[in-house]
Amino acid sequence: MAPEVRELLVSHIRDVPDYPKPGVTFKDITPLLADAKAFAALSEALAGICAQRGATKVVGLEARGFILAAPAAVRAGLGFVPVRKAGKLPGATLSQSYELEYGTAEMELHAEDLSAGDRVLVIDDVLATGGTAEASLKLIRRSGAQVAGVAVLMELGFLSGRERLVTELDGAPLDAL
Ligand code: PRP
Repeated sequence: MAPEVRELLVSHIRDVPDYPKPGVTFKDITPLLADAKAFAALSEALAGICAQRGATKVVGLEARGFILAAPAAVRAGLGFVPVRKAGKLPGATLSQSYELEYGTAEMELHAEDLSAGDRVLVIDDVLATGGTAEASLKLIRRSGAQVAGVAVLMELGFLSGRERLVTELDGAPLDAL
C-alpha cells in the first residue's frame, strides 16, 4: 500500500482510551467510514487484495467486518457472504463455537452461500485474539470451499491472533493494512 494511503487510513482511526472498560484503548473506525476519501481508499485496497488472492467470494464478519467487506466485494465484482453471531441467520447454517477469555461464542454461516469451487477471502476490521477469524475459517473449510486468505484493517500484534490462525490458514496469506 502506498505510504500516503496508509497515512490517510491511520489518520482517520481514533484511539478511545478506557473503552469499553478501563485500561483498554478502543480503535474507533467511524471517522474513517465517515470520510468519503478514506473509506473509498480502504474499499479499493481491500478489493485489490481480493483480486491478488484470486478470491471468488468475500466473507465479512459481524458486525464491523460487514461494513468493510460489502463495498470491497462490490468493487471486486464478487458476492458477499456474512458470518454472523449465533441465531441471526434464518436458513440452514453451519455453526462454530470458539473460546473467549471468559466463556465461549458461536459464529454461523449459511452453508448454501459457498460451494466447493469457491476461494474465499475473509475481511474484518480488527484481528485481536484471532478467535472470530479462526471460527470463520473453520466454517469456510467445513462448507467445502477453499480459504484464499484473511484481510484486516488493523492487527493488534500483542494479542498473537496471527499465530492462532496458522493452522486454519494452512499457508494462505493474512494481510493487515
Ligand atoms: C470485534 C472485531 C472482530 C473481533 C476481533 O468484533 O470487529 O470481529 O472482535 O476479536 P478477536 O480477534 O479477539 O476474535 P466484536 O465481537 O466486538 O463485534 P462487533 O463487530 O459486532 O462490534
